[in-house]
Amino acid sequence: MNIEELIGKMTVDEKISLLAGASFWGTQAVERLGIPPIVLTDGPHGVRLSMGTEPGEVLSKTKPATAFPVEAAMAATWNTELIRELGTVIAEECQYYDVGIVLGPGLNGKRSPLGGRNFEYFSEDPYLTGKMGAAFVNGVQSGGVGTSIKHFVANEQETNRMVVSSEVDERALRELYMLPFEIAVQEAKPWTVMCSYNKVNGTHMANNDAYLNGVLKREWGFEGLVMSDWGAVVDKVASVQFGLDLEMPGPGRRNEEVMEAYRTRQVTDEQLDDHVRRILKVIDRVLGHKRKVSSIDADRHHEVARKVAEEAVVLLKNEGVVLPLPKQAKVAVLGKFAIAPRIQGGGSSHMNPARLDIPFDEVAKFACAVYGAGYDTDDVNEALLREACELAAGQDAVIVFAGTTEAIESEGYDRADLNIPHSHVRLIEAVSEVNPNVIVVLHSGSATNIGAFESNAKAVIQAWLPGQAGGSAIANILFGEVNPSGKLSETFPLALEHNPSYLSFPGNVREVKYTESIFVGYRYYDAKKLDVRYPFGFGLSYTEFEYSNLRLSCGSLTNGDILTVSVDIKNVGSRAGKEVVQVYVRDVKCTVPKADKELKGFVKIELAPGETGTVHLELNDRAFSHYVEHLGKFAVESGEFEILVGASSRDIRLAGIVEFTSAVDVREPLTLLHSLQAWLKDDRYADKVRHVMDQMKLNADNPMYPILLGMPIRTILSFLPAFGYPQETIDRIYETFGGEYDR
Ligand code: BGC
Repeated sequence: MNIEELIGKMTVDEKISLLAGASFWGTQAVERLGIPPIVLTDGPHGVRLSMGTEPGEVLSKTKPATAFPVEAAMAATWNTELIRELGTVIAEECQYYDVGIVLGPGLNGKRSPLGGRNFEYFSEDPYLTGKMGAAFVNGVQSGGVGTSIKHFVANEQETNRMVVSSEVDERALRELYMLPFEIAVQEAKPWTVMCSYNKVNGTHMANNDAYLNGVLKREWGFEGLVMSDWGAVVDKVASVQFGLDLEMPGPGRRNEEVMEAYRTRQVTDEQLDDHVRRILKVIDRVLGHKRKVSSIDADRHHEVARKVAEEAVVLLKNEGVVLPLPKQAKVAVLGKFAIAPRIQGGGSSHMNPARLDIPFDEVAKFACAVYGAGYDTDDVNEALLREACELAAGQDAVIVFAGTTEAIESEGYDRADLNIPHSHVRLIEAVSEVNPNVIVVLHSGSATNIGAFESNAKAVIQAWLPGQAGGSAIANILFGEVNPSGKLSETFPLALEHNPSYLSFPGNVREVKYTESIFVGYRYYDAKKLDVRYPFGFGLSYTEFEYSNLRLSCGSLTNGDILTVSVDIKNVGSRAGKEVVQVYVRDVKCTVPKADKELKGFVKIELAPGETGTVHLELNDRAFSHYVEHLGKFAVESGEFEILVGASSRDIRLAGIVEFTSAVDVREPLTLLHSLQAWLKDDRYADKVRHVMDQMKLNADNPMYPILLGMPIRTILSFLPAFGYPQETIDRIYETFGGEYDR
């Protein structure tokens, strides 16, 4: 396409028509100029292409496609290469179905474990989220299909998501909620971004000039198009004025309003052309990358889905090394999920899986297995319980499939609590009375209340919502074909009440206050020194790893320097395995509140028994910085930083220290509102201030001194006329404090 030439030829009507979709899943064509429509479809756990022909079916009937593990599970692999590969498979299926843009990945945060869509988001940590998101985008786009990172921004709940205003301070916005999008934009250049439904600090994201134009397009240099979430535009004219390129879904109903605004010069030619240019560029890219894919290699795609599901499994508990189970063991497989597998969450990411591995059948390939349903609904079924206990008695082990039901985790509403159904908990409890070797396979897209049954289980594996190959992946883990290597992508707290958002989630219809600010997930639990059930980054293996020989490439650094962190990892067990080496940075002393530590790097390494490998990670300025609100940018505060290398956020194995000398002074200039104490403690002013205070005889010899220390300078200075100082002296003193005052 010659985009500029096309723009020159288009009428204003045609331009405006392009700014909204033509249908639920398609963009507008301009036939006169040969501009075809493209297809956008969900995402992110595989291709979800509508095949509904009847009204209403656009949402419910979809073509079969490979159903991958949910994003929460993808993140638990901590394997960016694998997620990139997953992306290439999705692209392949998009090409097959002629889909131009896949709507995902979701890059929102996990403020609360209750978030209904937590399964569809990567992590409570913005760095892990950003890296996974970039890998996903790079994978899909390398296959010539676009992505739409969503939902920009601060959409951390389902309740009232279409109307609520997320009230978030600038630091939390930048450091937690925008960072994943920033990383993905920088490292993967997504073709499109989807804005969220909600308002942020009072303004709907579909017309949020500051964040769409200011941050995303200008500051980060995003060159693609911004589309609305489905139905997120509440003021079409404002959206055109303030940075939204494409309203979805279509057909556009408010073109006359935009035309009227154009006629009255509220919408300019530059604005229209910028939107049209961005839309045409994406259409052109989709057309330019179209490949003829006439068949799908379903085996290979299933294999990739299995690899991801396997690497996502987190072994939470393995008392007495009950796992892996010996092959040919006699086992009872209990719980309905063993034959009706729990593979995905509800809502727009819900897929029609191309295949489905049945966990019981997969277990039966390794063992002598019997099945009992154990539960049917959330309520306890005594007859099924009795049957389960009879089946469980005398077996080598009992494998119970349990977890959240489809009704519990979905887009559209938040969870009420962290519980799994009572019938599942009772089943675990009952069979533990007749068989000591209970292994729980736990399905959920986010933290659950494991405390309710943990003591009745020898082993617990967190299998997430593992997609269509979950059944075989789980069997491979249980019988040691695969050594578990997943690590938690979010903290599992001891109680919901411990979560920092507990008192402010989900707010009311007008606003939700992000009262915990930057202290989300382990940033909070670690700062508060709270015990947790399982920490962020945690996961056991069938082998063990030893960390040694931490090397830092330098002891002191400054802006622009790169710190290389190297560490040796040895597999000291008897099985091959993979370890996720995590690097956290702790700011030893800082003038603003900071988390105890923040994840700044990770590497997954595979080692044979006895093998030692060395991992290298690079940290740049950003790893040491925070968002300095008064400067409007990320900057480093000079000082010492600890480099912590560990196997989880609570299992730090090695530590080193570096001194960062920053070129930027991050301190805010003091004002008359600051206390005398603050002025005296600040080396930029202390000498001058002490001198003036001495002259006024307001120093330590003055009995009122301790009280004066806490007073704002403004108040102290207001006493000066009453103390009898001449005006000239008073003026001079004010100058010392750089202040204006009302004579
Ligand atoms: C969801 C998006 C999704 C879109 C299209 C919206 O309700 O929030 O994530 O891509 O629908 O299905």
